[in-house]
Amino acid sequence: MAEVKFSEEAYKKIQEIITRYPEGKQKSALIPALHIAQAESGGWMDVPVLDHVAEILNLNPIEVYEVATFYTMFNLKPVGKYVLEVCQTGPCMVCGSDKIINHIKQKLNIEVGETSADGLFTLKPSECLGACGYAPMMMLGKNYKEHLTVEKVDELIEELRNQA
Ligand code: FES
Repeated sequence: MAEVKFSEEAYKKIQEIITRYPEGKQKSALIPALHIAQAESGGWMDVPVLDHVAEILNLNPIEVYEVATFYTMFNLKPVGKYVLEVCQTGPCMVCGSDKIINHIKQKLNIEVGETSADGLFTLKPSECLGACGYAPMMMLGKNYKEHLTVEKVDELIEELRNQA
């Protein structure tokens, strides 16, 4: 198994985050450390990456697995360059998230959880992202795309294809 290594900058950043918490409370740095680990690992993390995070934070691997498998923002299998995380909780559903999800499925010829053949897009369902007033919405990287319509989704996909 290949040894997992992050960039020096990533290790420094994780150590800096650890110092924000009292001695022995390094577990508090776990979520930001996982974000860094995911960014260092091509957008997703397998078990060796999670184990490496456990090693850095001096935690039991199970403590890292518990968090990484709980939150939908952590990807545990390869994803496309762009992850379309469409909220499907109540308010977004009432405002048409099903239509948005079905449109993306048809347009990209994928099912929920799959990545398009060109490797660009992964469709992921999400629970409430705290932007219910802007329903239906999706998270794309660090940005929210709000008041989605089929037309807006088409424009967005086109724009991302051009950027890729
Ligand atoms: Fe979709 Fe809250 S229900 S953001």
